[in-house]
Amino acid sequence: MSAHAILGSGSYAPTRIVTNDELSQRVETSDEWIFTRTGIRERRIAGPDESTSQMASAAARAALADAKLSPADIDLLIVATMTPDMPMPAAACLVQTELGLSADTACFDLNAACTGFVYALDTAWAMLASGRYRTALVIGAEKVSSVIDWSDRTTCVLFGDGAGAVVLGSAVEGSRARLIGSKLGSIPATSSALMTPGGGSAPASPDAPKCITMKGKEVFKLAVRAMDDVAREILVAHNIAPSEVACIIPHQANRRIIEAIAQYLELPLERFFINLDRFGNTSAASIPLALDEARRAGRIKSGDVVLLVAFGAGLTYGATLVRF
Ligand code: COA
Repeated sequence: MSAHAILGSGSYAPTRIVTNDELSQRVETSDEWIFTRTGIRERRIAGPDESTSQMASAAARAALADAKLSPADIDLLIVATMTPDMPMPAAACLVQTELGLSADTACFDLNAACTGFVYALDTAWAMLASGRYRTALVIGAEKVSSVIDWSDRTTCVLFGDGAGAVVLGSAVEGSRARLIGSKLGSIPATSSALMTPGGGSAPASPDAPKCITMKGKEVFKLAVRAMDDVAREILVAHNIAPSEVACIIPHQANRRIIEAIAQYLELPLERFFINLDRFGNTSAASIPLALDEARRAGRIKSGDVVLLVAFGAGLTYGATLVRF
């Protein structure tokens, strides 16, 4: 089987910054409460005319430029999102038009909530490994602000909008860069901990809230367990010691969740890339946005082994091991 690698990355964040202080003028909260419980200081919020597909397209353009490839090179496009512009067509089809990708491109959205990007990466990798696709754009993009109840202080302080993208293709000859492994899963019977109950086809849906509802403490515990377990499993499966991982890009939900995982894996917190202080939880965009920032900040060098690890509503979880 030929090897596949991440050939480039890009990201996009809306320009509007909403600080904790600004939120504390809308709901009963404070910068001190939000920062000590979550590590978040501010988040980006999309403008009224800005959509998930537009943010996705901006991130994808940057990833193509980074990979030195053109839209004509792409034959597979996956957008991981739980906030597509509309139920149909898929955000991926809107991105396809925006970028001018050819009619030969397979385009679809994938929803695994905040684990979406890791799921999409694995899906694209498997499709490339089949030999029937050459080069993929894998995007995580979310306008989470569109499914937030802005009067609910228990959720509105946590989330933000943004997009991140990677180009996945055949590993460059002579380079050691490649995808090493991936592991996905979902813990059954945990869906009520984190959901958007309304807006779908469930019988109760018309009256149910169309915003995120969450049992914070339950999600916190599930998240730590799921990310710790899957990180261990993938490292053992590929015979890589935690100390060999140069950088961990965790889902950016809460700094205390990341601290707990660092402690369980017995790794220094400095090994984890954290940007949630500036972006909050951008759901499926969180990992590709952080990955792109980490690369641009020089935190990931050629030859480094990087671990991506995420959890999200479902409760889904997943991890990817990549050598750059
Ligand atoms: N500002 C001020 N007070 C707030 C608040 C806010 N924004 N949100 C909740 N509170 C209050 C609660 O009402 C509660 O008050 P009470 O004791 O009078 O009932 C108190 O603060 C403590 O709330 P609690 O839920 O115990 O806080 P916590 O330490 O568990 O932190 C979260 C709350 C949400 C930050 C934390 O549980 C968490 O991060 N969970 C995981 C969420 C997550 O990652 N979701 C995304 C998954 S992809």
